[in-house]
Amino acid sequence: MNYPVWYLPLIGGPLIIAFVAIIHVVVSHFAVGGGLWLVLTEKKGYRENKDYIVDYVKKHAKFFLLLTMVFSALTGVGIWFTIALIHPDATSHLIHTFVFGWAIEWVLFVIEIVAAFLYFYNFGKISKKLHLLIGWIYFIAAWGSLLVINAILAFMLTPGKWIATQNFWDGILNPSYLSSTAFRTFLCFALAGSYGLMTATRKFKGEQKDELVKYNGKWIFWSLAGLIPSAFWYYSTFPKQAMEGLAGSSAIMVSSLWHLIISLGLFILFLILLYLWKTKRFGFKSSIAMFLTIFVFFGAFEFIREAGRKPYIIKDYMYSTGIRVADFDRIKDQSILQNSKWTEIKEITPDNAVKAGGEIFRIQCYACHSLGIKNNINKKMVDWDLKKIRRIIGSLKGITPFMTEFAGNEVEKDALAKWFYWEIHGELPQEEVEQGGALDGPALFESFCSDCHENSPDDPLFLNTSDVIEIDGMMDILSRLNELNEDMPPFEGSEEEKKALAEYIIKSRSKK
Ligand code: HEC
Ligand code: HEC
Repeated sequence: MNYPVWYLPLIGGPLIIAFVAIIHVVVSHFAVGGGLWLVLTEKKGYRENKDYIVDYVKKHAKFFLLLTMVFSALTGVGIWFTIALIHPDATSHLIHTFVFGWAIEWVLFVIEIVAAFLYFYNFGKISKKLHLLIGWIYFIAAWGSLLVINAILAFMLTPGKWIATQNFWDGILNPSYLSSTAFRTFLCFALAGSYGLMTATRKFKGEQKDELVKYNGKWIFWSLAGLIPSAFWYYSTFPKQAMEGLAGSSAIMVSSLWHLIISLGLFILFLILLYLWKTKRFGFKSSIAMFLTIFVFFGAFEFIREAGRKPYIIKDYMYSTGIRVADFDRIKDQSILQNSKWTEIKEITPDNAVKAGGEIFRIQCYACHSLGIKNNINKKMVDWDLKKIRRIIGSLKGITPFMTEFAGNEVEKDALAKWFYWEIHGELPQEEVEQGGALDGPALFESFCSDCHENSPDDPLFLNTSDVIEIDGMMDILSRLNELNEDMPPFEGSEEEKKALAEYIIKSRSKK
């Protein structure tokens, strides 16, 4: 709202962020788990006097060096770049709130880089003790970064006391901080173990392979032993709305939860197979499959975390659109265009309405919707007339709890509706076309109710009207929809349509 956004409607902001973030997040967790894996495995090599293990560690060290230095650093900067362009208001807020956190993070990253270089280039050249010490420093600095960055991610989901105090430490030590840190830490170790498993099955044969498969299997086993309880702990610190979403109120979250559960189940199955098969038959392909399942698990978890705070970007404080909760009502009463700094149009006239609608889309819908592949609403609106588009814009919150109501005045609602219609049909409708047509119950239901209700007996529409048996009673309900629930639009059809719909609802209920 206060900054220009990078407008790429065909791809959409969320998809770009997701693309960069997924890579970065996996790599950076991997670097943390890998850090501990390196030192502990190196130590094992020395203790058991096995050169092939030390050698194996050295090869990994090179990989981790490239991974953290090149990939993690590039994608880390990439994330800042993309979120600053796509969510400038929120990014500005996070930077102002946590500037000291970023400073710590920067120092830790420098230590991590230096330690990784020293660790790799001094392999076998300095005393074992000193070398291990450098390895520990690498791991601790990498984990320290996780402690800082995760604090900010957790803050966005559960800002807790910070909302009232705006205090740095209240932001950092927020309600889901410790639980999510534990969860992510075990996830780091599980990733490292799964990666070690892939390299072990590829590089070694015979007894050496058996030994290292078992060793990495132990990593995974202990990671899971921590991961599963910490997942429950983390869940217990989720905001109520996110819990409800997972419990069934949000289809997308429920489907992600299934991805999470199934991938974890498969992962555990692989682990069991690994031991039942006595490791011998556990080859490279199985270990890749195992790695992929943890990958899906990870993706589903990040998705749930992100979805869990919608429609906010900082829960209860700022919406995904960059509008602060505290400013919302004022903007709704005044005007979104006049309250946005980066818009060419401030005043809507009949001539510029469509263009103004486009600006409003960019300010208020683009944070979650695109005109391309991801969450494209135009596709859903293809058959909607202008009236219906406008009606739905007037009750977005009723469609899904992921959305807020429209933040703008009535003229702006009209302009946005016109813009959608224009985008889809390339022209505006001629004077209000008479809807007319048959008074067909199912079609009326489809047109007026189906965006938020299902034609099934356990939908509140049917459940909460079960005692209404007369047509008149049902017509009375239809006249008061917006009083029954403020997220519901008033019924805008004609009296005949109202009657036909009332009859249809009563009839279809009695059939169920
Ligand atoms: C914070 C994110 C967010 C913002 C901002 C947002 N939406 Fe949505 N919207 C969603 C989600 C999530 C869905 C549900 C997608 C699904 O269930 O498939 C959705 C669904 C919809 C639908 C679906 C209708 C249907 O019948 O399925 C419409 C229409 C819609 N949004 C319009 C808008 C408009 C107009 C704006 C801007 C004024 C907007 N949304 C802003 C997240 C958002
Ligand atoms: C934009 C979304 C939206 C549309 C469109 C919509 N509703 Fe609703 N309706 C809701 C929401 C949200 C609730 C509350 C659901 C709940 O309690 O879980 C609700 C609840 C209801 C209830 C129960 C009210 C109560 O007292 O608890 C009835 C009856 C109802 N709707 C009828 C209709 C009918 C009939 C239509 C079509 C003419 C319709 N609704 C269209 C969003 C909508």
